[in-house]
Amino acid sequence: MSNPNEQRASSPAMVLEVQNFSVELMTDNGIFKAVNNVNFSIRRGQTVTIIGESGSGKSTTAMGMLQLLPPDLAVLSGTVEIHGNDVLSSPKAIRRYRGRGLALIPQDPMTALSPVLSIGSQLREAIKVAGREKGKNAIQAKAVRLLEQVRIPLVDEQLKKFPHQLSGGMLQRVLIAIALASEPELLVADEPTSALDVTVQAGILDLLLEIQETSGTSILMITHDIGVARLVSDTIHVMQGGRFVESGGAHQIVEDPQEEYTRNLLAAVPRLGTWDELESVEESRV
Ligand SMILES: Nc1ncnc2c1ncn2[C@@H]1O[C@H](COP(=O)(O)OP(=O)(O)O)[C@@H](O)[C@H]1O
Ligand SMILES: [Mg+2]
Repeated sequence: MSNPNEQRASSPAMVLEVQNFSVELMTDNGIFKAVNNVNFSIRRGQTVTIIGESGSGKSTTAMGMLQLLPPDLAVLSGTVEIHGNDVLSSPKAIRRYRGRGLALIPQDPMTALSPVLSIGSQLREAIKVAGREKGKNAIQAKAVRLLEQVRIPLVDEQLKKFPHQLSGGMLQRVLIAIALASEPELLVADEPTSALDVTVQAGILDLLLEIQETSGTSILMITHDIGVARLVSDTIHVMQGGRFVESGGAHQIVEDPQEEYTRNLLAAVPRLGTWDELESVEESRV
C-alpha cells in the first residue's frame, strides 16, 4: 500500500478510529450490552473485517458507529473518530460524513431498493443527494459511469429496469453503485453477499476489491463467513457476545487461530472456486 496520496495532509492515512466503543440496548428485560468495549481502526485503502456468529453484535457495532440506531433504544459510549473528528459527541458531525465520506452497503439487495422505481431513478436520486453532479445530463452520465464501474452490462437497458427484473447479484451491484455515488472514503458492507448464491458472492467480493484498488477506498466488512473474511481482509477482529475475542492479520487469524471460537468459525467455511469459473457463472445470470 504505497499510495502517494497517503502522505497528503488533506487525506491522512487513518480514516476511522474506534475506541472503547460500547452499545447498550434498552430491552423489555432491561439493559443489554450488545457491544462491549471494542477497539479498531481502519487506514486508507485497508479492509478490516468483523467476523462472528449471528447475534454476536456485528451489525450493532456498525449501525451504532454510523448512528443509525434509534437513540431511545441504544446508548452509545466511547469514541468514534473519522479523520480525527469525534462523530459520537455530535449528531451533526456524522451527518456531514454520511452520504459523502461514508457509505453503507446493506445486507439484502432484494429489500433495500424500492420495487416501484426504476434502477435509473434510484441511482440518479443517490447522485443528486451526493451533490457532486448538477444538471440532468451530468447526473445521467454519472449513472451510466457508475453502472459500468460495477460491471453491469448493457447499461442503458438496465437503467430502465425495475428491481424485480434483475438477479440478486446484479441488484447487489446496483446497491454498490448507489454507495459509490458519493465517492466514499469508507464503505461499510454489512454481510453484502450473505443473501446471494456462493457463486455470485465471489464476483461481488472481487468487484469490491477492484474498487478498492482503483480508488483507495477503505472497507469495513461484516460477515459470519470466514471464507469471505479470508478473501478480502487485511485485519480481522473476531466477535463473540459483544466483544472482540481475537484480532490480528488475516493470514494469522486464518492459519493460526488462538481461540476455539475462531477455529469453529473456520470449520464452517464453504469452499469457493476460482475467479474465472465464478465470473462466467455470474455473467450468465444477468
Ligand atoms: N432492537 C433490538 N432490541 C433488542 N435486542 C436487539 C435488538 N437488535 C439486536 N439485538 C440483540 O443484540 C445482539 C447483537 O445483534 P446484532 O448486532 O444484530 O448481531 P449480528 O449482526 O452479529 O448478527 C443480539 O443478541 C440481538 O438479539
Ligand atoms: Mg448482522
